[in-house]
Amino acid sequence: MIDHLPFDRPDVGEEEIAAVAEVLRSGWITTGSRAKEFERRFAEYAGAVHALALTSGTDAMQVALAAWGIGPGDQVITTPLTFCSTLHIIVHQGATPVLADVSPDDYNLHPERVAEQITSRTAALLPVHLAGLPCRMDALLDLAQRHGLRVLEDAAHAAGARVGGRPVGSLGDATAFSFYATKNLTTAEGGMLTSDDGEFMEQARLWHLHGLSRDAWKRYTAEGAWRYDVLVPGFKSNMSDLQAALGLVQLAKLEKNIARRAEIARQYTSAFAQMPELIPAPDAHPGDRHARHLYMLRLRPDRLRIDRNRVFEELRTRGIGASVHFIPIYHLSYYRERFGWRAEEFPETEAIFRSCLSLPCFPRMTAVDVERVIAVVAEIVESNRA
Ligand SMILES: Cc1ncc(COP(=O)(O)O)c(C=O)c1O
Repeated sequence: MIDHLPFDRPDVGEEEIAAVAEVLRSGWITTGSRAKEFERRFAEYAGAVHALALTSGTDAMQVALAAWGIGPGDQVITTPLTFCSTLHIIVHQGATPVLADVSPDDYNLHPERVAEQITSRTAALLPVHLAGLPCRMDALLDLAQRHGLRVLEDAAHAAGARVGGRPVGSLGDATAFSFYATKNLTTAEGGMLTSDDGEFMEQARLWHLHGLSRDAWKRYTAEGAWRYDVLVPGFKSNMSDLQAALGLVQLAKLEKNIARRAEIARQYTSAFAQMPELIPAPDAHPGDRHARHLYMLRLRPDRLRIDRNRVFEELRTRGIGASVHFIPIYHLSYYRERFGWRAEEFPETEAIFRSCLSLPCFPRMTAVDVERVIAVVAEIVESNRA
């Protein structure tokens, strides 16, 4: 039997278990003091004035678009190299997603391709910090300012990333984080929205919980009252104290865990840079900090006799879990059929998709695990040179 190394395993231990148990015993298990504390601490970490804890990164993005009133007639420009929910939230608002191709050096939205897509109907830019590598935010923020656009960052991968000295979460008009099970910081399921704009965050708070004019938990505490009003047809996206308790422990570990991820990535890159059949995962732009959520290795199809799918299978046969981030949006039936996008329109995204593979890169990997991944990749490459 081959020992299986999973693609990811969350770093959740006794401390998280104790924190969640404490909430369970407290008699208050939904949104309450833990969620407030998590918001306060996360805002501080992300360099933002406000933070709102939610049920997912998807909800964080959805609530942001709703709070801005982005809807029918509006266009939102984003990347095809992302998870489907980055697009779903635009469609749910009745707005129109517009795709711009990515850059081959960071796999993120290319500011020039974005500029080409701006029209009088463009309302917002939605850049994704893929893998945890920050986008070229200076260029994107400059474009947004010149055209009067809002910027919502999909930072699902990027808790802990920085642009210059500034944390992701303090750059655009609003930033959405995901705390899904595999993310750098997990609450099993969960998300956070950050912003410096107090009025926007008031709207976001309204939208995240049924449009109620008061937070539910206040209604049931001594200072609260039974009366409430509903101002908008809001969502049900509040984070529970169970998740927040988990998040507070995870937040305290985040820097240490990013450092470990960065060390694994460094070892991968120094090994793969020796193999001309491979393109190591890109580093952050100078002065920026990569959150190292994913290690996206690329193959050079011209130098190998097997394609990405075969390499994936070879890894699996040898007990190494891998993944692909992402199947581009234009390959997904709903989007292809509704918007008529074709792969030829996005040559850089398509080339990355066809050649990329995400390797295990999680804090609990041992030195032996990392060496094993490198050795297995080397073995596959050596026996399949073109
Ligand atoms: C790039 C990207 N955006 C958004 C999301 C959605 O996050 P969540 O699962 O918390 O809704 C994900 C989740 O995997 C993601 O990878």
